[in-house]
Amino acid sequence: MNHFQYIDGALHAEDVPLADIAAAVGTPFYCYSTATLERHYKVFSEAFADHDALICYAVKANANLAVIRTLADLGAGADVVSEGELRKALAGGVPADRIVFSGVGKTHAEIAYALDCGVMQLNVESIPELEALSAIAAGKGITASIGIRINPDVDARTHEKISTGKAENKFGIAAAAAPEAFARAAALPGVRPVSVAVHIGSQLTDLEPFRAAFTTLAALVGELRAQGHEIERVDLGGGLGIPYREESLPLPIDYAAVVKGAVGNLGCQLVFEPGRMLVGNAGVLVSRVIYVKEGEAKRFVIVDAAMNDLMRPAMYDAWHDIKPLNAPPQDAPVAPVDVVGPACETSDTFARQRNLTPIREGDLLAILTAGAYGAVMASTYNVRLLTPEILVRGSKWSIVRARPSYEDLLRQDSLATWQDRSI
Ligand code: LLP
Repeated sequence: MNHFQYIDGALHAEDVPLADIAAAVGTPFYCYSTATLERHYKVFSEAFADHDALICYAVKANANLAVIRTLADLGAGADVVSEGELRKALAGGVPADRIVFSGVGKTHAEIAYALDCGVMQLNVESIPELEALSAIAAGKGITASIGIRINPDVDARTHEKISTGKAENKFGIAAAAAPEAFARAAALPGVRPVSVAVHIGSQLTDLEPFRAAFTTLAALVGELRAQGHEIERVDLGGGLGIPYREESLPLPIDYAAVVKGAVGNLGCQLVFEPGRMLVGNAGVLVSRVIYVKEGEAKRFVIVDAAMNDLMRPAMYDAWHDIKPLNAPPQDAPVAPVDVVGPACETSDTFARQRNLTPIREGDLLAILTAGAYGAVMASTYNVRLLTPEILVRGSKWSIVRARPSYEDLLRQDSLATWQDRSI
């Protein structure tokens, strides 16, 4: 469910015609819908209304300050994986005591900064990290609440590049080695192990891998408690998949049933780190058709967005729906086209042999489900400007990240000291 719908033949974000935004800010641009963000947060949180649950939005999915603020206003915490994300979460209004710091390679400086901020919990992923964290916290005279992320060796049955819970992945500590890690943590100064964390991957479309991982986690909590550890929280990560092509997928309520069945009776606070589920369908990327090119073998629709703006098709062969901003007539014929960007590589392809209604030069297209892992993964490849971001709320819209200027972009580099600046 999202709030990007045709009204009188024009694709709207809530009450705003996307074409109006295009006319004002140019293309390409990302547009996010507040009502969709709010709806997704509410659906997720209501599924756990009968539990002590904290939803820590995974900032990596969309780090725009206005998006973070929208979710923070609803009571969301944050899951962050870098000092930058931590700073964004705080600036977006998430209280430090609702922030979990995850990630396999936190630097010592990042750990020190997170401790100074007083984050709720740091999730530790290795013994060397545990030792570093202990030393840094003890040096500050602080005792930090930590979780230990386990690797349950579960196949998430998602794209291999976004699977994280198999033994061969870099993430977490093997479940079998966790009791030893907890014992080590309990013996170290500066840390208090209070939580077990797990995250097995992203865009999961099947609940069984979750059930397997959470069952392993629950058994471990029992074992750890028997050894005298006080486990107050379990952090169940994110990963719930969303429909990219209107397929029917497990709903948050189905996911909640699996969660409650596996860990509901542990008496622990439940922490979740959803990213995509909250923001994915709340965003679109709007782009204008530059040319329609009749190739030797195919017709190419060349748009002004490129792989640097939305990496997912190039990186994960991801499928994103594409809709014209002007609704085509009901009986419009469809024909296969490749929708491509201007970047100089073949992977700069948003859709291959997609059956679309006739598209002409100058038309505006929306690439859907682009709210998660879209703008955050953008780059300036081919020296293209980063895409602006717009947030809509009802009939209002606001630029929440402006398009930079070429001057901004050129200022980022400088000549070497020995090079002649007068040229
Ligand atoms: N927690 C941890 C520890 C994570 O590593 C992730 C995602 C999440 C939570 C949020 O997962 P979500 O609920 O969004 O599935 N760029 C890829 C996705 C990478 C996900 C990385 N970790 C994509 O575009 O598909």
